[in-house]
Amino acid sequence: MSTSKQTDAAYQKCINPDCGAEFDCGQSLFKCPACGELLDAVYNWDKIEVPDKLTDFAKRWATRNNRLDFSGVWRFRELLNFCEDKYKVTIGEGQTILQQNDGVAEYVDVKPGRLYLQYEGLNPSGSFKDNGMTAAFSHAMMVGAKSCACASTGNTSASMTLYAHNCGLKSTVFIGSGRIAFGKLSQAMDYGAQTIQILGDFDDCMRQVQDVCLQLGLYLLNSLNPFRLEGQKAIMYRIIEQLRWEVPDWIIVPGGNLGNSSAFGKAFYELKQLGLIEQVPRMAIINATGAKTLTDLVNNKKLLWNNGSVEQKIIDDYYADLTARNFSPHTCASAIEISRPVNLKKCLRTIALCNGIVRAVTDEEICDAKAIIGKYGLGCEPASAATIAGLKHLRAEGVIAADERIACVLTGHLLKDPNVTVNYHKEKQGQFSNPPIEAPNKLDEIIKLIK
Ligand code: F0G
Repeated sequence: MSTSKQTDAAYQKCINPDCGAEFDCGQSLFKCPACGELLDAVYNWDKIEVPDKLTDFAKRWATRNNRLDFSGVWRFRELLNFCEDKYKVTIGEGQTILQQNDGVAEYVDVKPGRLYLQYEGLNPSGSFKDNGMTAAFSHAMMVGAKSCACASTGNTSASMTLYAHNCGLKSTVFIGSGRIAFGKLSQAMDYGAQTIQILGDFDDCMRQVQDVCLQLGLYLLNSLNPFRLEGQKAIMYRIIEQLRWEVPDWIIVPGGNLGNSSAFGKAFYELKQLGLIEQVPRMAIINATGAKTLTDLVNNKKLLWNNGSVEQKIIDDYYADLTARNFSPHTCASAIEISRPVNLKKCLRTIALCNGIVRAVTDEEICDAKAIIGKYGLGCEPASAATIAGLKHLRAEGVIAADERIACVLTGHLLKDPNVTVNYHKEKQGQFSNPPIEAPNKLDEIIKLIK
């Protein structure tokens, strides 16, 4: 496998089939300048030396002293080949594990040995975002960006500022007032980012940051950026890698801005196109009931990808109703507290490709699932636990069988929303609450309390 490629192996393309405008990768765009739709990174595979079989990637384990071979994203670099190696930025992201977890499997009524948890909390900044940032910052270096920005509920800001600091870029974070996990914002403040707190929610921040980036020429690092999604494809490559290069039956992922589900579908589409896998897995995307735009649109309004001809009116009417009701989403899973997901259409494409399904779960179900995941070894944030809560629904409905092989993506670390965990236990909010017991400062009384 060669290690350096030209950017002419890739280009950007509008996902709207009526437009289909193409742009080279040297441009920094987050919307099609012709029609305003989302953009994809697309590859001329005949110009890239892609391995004949996935197992070839395993050879890179022997050369892990090479920084790109060490990265859990760039060791698959032929599959996201949009820039030359000299621009690639890595801080060792993607050293994450796929853990088979029978304790959690029992909770969701899945047979032993069939449930796997892909724990992205092990990334340097504590969430899956590092997969996307390593790719997007490589693109930012390629286009010579000097300053960058994002809207965030916490993880994007921590990851962006970590990479910005490493690349010498200035960074600005937009947060909604009262809507940020402060444990996460602390990372951004440490790295020297400028933080703008807007009187509004994440969706408001997302709208503002796009206009600010356009007007000031800042490099946008939300998942509208097509190169961020290229990096996030690697989460799927690593799941397959850890399953000895086999594809699971199901991928389950939380749905917020729908970047992951979009990226994962693209990863499988391309692997199939390249003949590297025979079958794509099914995908379940899980919303919180307090932020269930995707569930409403897909399950109730029957919104479809329809080969790219998405019925825009259904979306416009839905959003007009949200506006009329002055609706703002609310869930303890702050990372998916989003009502206008920017990657909606790409996610519809994934649903079409992967025979995908969508469900919404309550905060109570999320917190119980989170407690169980924690009990059996992995501390994750509420948004991540939505996957297990969703799986419990899908098992009860019989949509997923007990012996299917399932991989749930735990997107972020417990330490994003530690207050949720502490309150769940201390305030006895759920069936697995385990609060501290108060004791007088007397030995015999203390001894009586120890079970
Ligand atoms: N899980 C975690 C831990 C997240 O931080 C996010 C998004 C999601 C899931 C949703 O992912 O957009 O791919 O559907 N966090 C954003 C942030 C909002 O600002 O950190 P998606």
